[in-house]
Amino acid sequence: MKCFWVKAMCGIEKLLENNQLWAETKCQSDPDFFKRLANQQHPEYLWIGCSDSRVPANDIVGLEPGELFVHRNIANAVQSTDFNCLSVLQYAVEVLKVKHIIVCGHYGCGGVQASMGNDEHGLVDNWLRQIKNIYVAHRAELDALSENQGFNRLCELNVMAQVDNLAKTKVVQHAWERGQELQIHGWIYAVGNGQIQNLNVSVSSIYDVDPAYRLNPTSRQARPTVASTNE
Ligand code: CO
Repeated sequence: MKCFWVKAMCGIEKLLENNQLWAETKCQSDPDFFKRLANQQHPEYLWIGCSDSRVPANDIVGLEPGELFVHRNIANAVQSTDFNCLSVLQYAVEVLKVKHIIVCGHYGCGGVQASMGNDEHGLVDNWLRQIKNIYVAHRAELDALSENQGFNRLCELNVMAQVDNLAKTKVVQHAWERGQELQIHGWIYAVGNGQIQNLNVSVSSIYDVDPAYRLNPTSRQARPTVASTNE
């Protein structure tokens, strides 16, 4: 048991050593790197991706610290009841004024796979219910494919659904209403070869949103309480 704990500590301490080395290397190549970062961040992109350890956001798109605002959760979902994701979204759009939001899923996503089956996995089953709904909505298409093709296709359909979910939010629609430049993109990453594919489902205006989900600006002004962008 003692050996186990010593080994575990060494494993953790290795990360701190790695950090020292990384910081020193950064300073050597660019002495003002951390001074600049400490003052302000100006990322142009918000990344919404899966928590999967094989999909490290900055690394796979070649961006440095300060260049990508990141939110990750299981199966890169955007849910209208998730204050975490919505808070990240609001800060990114209204304060940082990112120009692009990228939803990046990945093939072989365990969350998507779990949503296709009937096994219980715990709390996460509630989180994945929305993805199961996507599976059910496209069951005819998916069941006509082989198991693996259907799985990959659902990974893509999930990304497309999350792009739609973003476009339905008040944060995004208010930004478009203000005339703010904001595009939402859907990408998918292949863990097996490291390449990202653009699913070509980008949206950039209210006219890309199904009319049923377009918020009516005049209704907001008519309300008796003071309007806020995140109520
Ligand atoms: Co995943």
